[in-house]
Amino acid sequence: MVDFALTDEQLSLQELARKFARSEMAPHAAECDKAGRFPEEIYRKAWELGLMNLNVPTEFGGSGLGLLEQALIVEELSRACAGMTTSIIANCLALEPIILGGSPEQKQATLTPFCAEYHLASFCLTEPSSGSDASAMKTRARKEGDDYVLDGEKCFITNGPHASLYTVFASTDPVARAKGISAFIVPRSTPGVTPGREEEKMGHRASSTSTVRFEGARVPVANRLGTEREGFSIAMRTLDQTRTPIGALATGIAQAAIDHAAAYSLQRHTFGKPIAEHQAIQFKLANMAQELHAARLLTWHAAWTIDHGSKGTLESSIAKCFASDAAMRIADEAIQVFGGYGYMKEYPVEKLLRDAKLAQIYEGSNEIQRIVIARELLRAYA
Ligand code: CAA
Repeated sequence: MVDFALTDEQLSLQELARKFARSEMAPHAAECDKAGRFPEEIYRKAWELGLMNLNVPTEFGGSGLGLLEQALIVEELSRACAGMTTSIIANCLALEPIILGGSPEQKQATLTPFCAEYHLASFCLTEPSSGSDASAMKTRARKEGDDYVLDGEKCFITNGPHASLYTVFASTDPVARAKGISAFIVPRSTPGVTPGREEEKMGHRASSTSTVRFEGARVPVANRLGTEREGFSIAMRTLDQTRTPIGALATGIAQAAIDHAAAYSLQRHTFGKPIAEHQAIQFKLANMAQELHAARLLTWHAAWTIDHGSKGTLESSIAKCFASDAAMRIADEAIQVFGGYGYMKEYPVEKLLRDAKLAQIYEGSNEIQRIVIARELLRAYA
């Protein structure tokens, strides 16, 4: 049976996120964007309301939500500010490798403190010379007795300077590429771990992005997730889970663009009537609405597929890729509806275009999503 009706619980989660987004995030979105300010007080409030560790199972104190519930929440948050949303959901990305690959003891020791108190964690996969080609990473993990010693540099790390814990992917055997990568839990307090300076970004300016260096950083073997060489699989399975929420984040940006464009079109007059009465504008709004609807449904479908036990590699890549491309087109058209005002920072729509752009790049560029989609498609015909 397929049913698009949301349950009472889903509706109340959506309402909780909507209220939080409107009252706590939206009023500060423009100021944080302009100043590049990381509003930690807002992230703390999100944590207090249970809007942060959405994927952590309830037995460890998390929200234990399915992907459909996560998508509903993320869309509402992103409608107010995609940059803040990126920082709020970064814990889900960073903790997912522990949820997927951690032992019961590792989960208890790591996940529980994140739900008992406000903490941030970061996912450390990307490196200066390996983004799309993740298995070409240069960060090394050398085994020395009961420890691994990590050396290397990760970049574009969301919440990097503010995190107390990193999930780090490093190679024990570079020649083996993907088959030589292992995953580690690395506390920020480990000697030899240094977050770098914050990047100045085009969008998502309320989130924080930095490098993180590992120089002789020693962690016990007990901090390795899964078996040695299982790290790449853990990273890929993590991204299968977290790309759907990026589809939801992009949908939230697209919804915000339509909210602003439709409202503006009703109050702006040209040639003696509101521009909403001109077909040129109506056609734009109609195309924007179609793309928004498709982005949301693809995101919900990917979430539903994974919530019903499938791996969802294909569906999550389709949702992330389509929704972020749609968000770019919709934000672009929203600016066009605003005309010259849309290009000015005084109005809210130019931020949406800058924010949408990152959704086409992070958690795997849309070119990588197309590679994943084509591989999954062709597998069915081989
Ligand atoms: N689940 C489980 N295993 C998987 C998998 C998946 N979804 N995808 C691949 N694997 C396995 C393969 O099966 C293979 O193992 P076998 O040989 O045993 O079958 C192994 O991993 C290697 O796979 P590939 O040969 O496909 O590897 P590849 O080198 O060709 O790379 C890729 C595949 C899809 C391009 C991958 O490198 C990729 O996803 N790249 C993008 C990385 C990415 O998304 N980075 C985002 C970083 S996070 C971020 O941006 C957030 C932030 O904070 C800003």
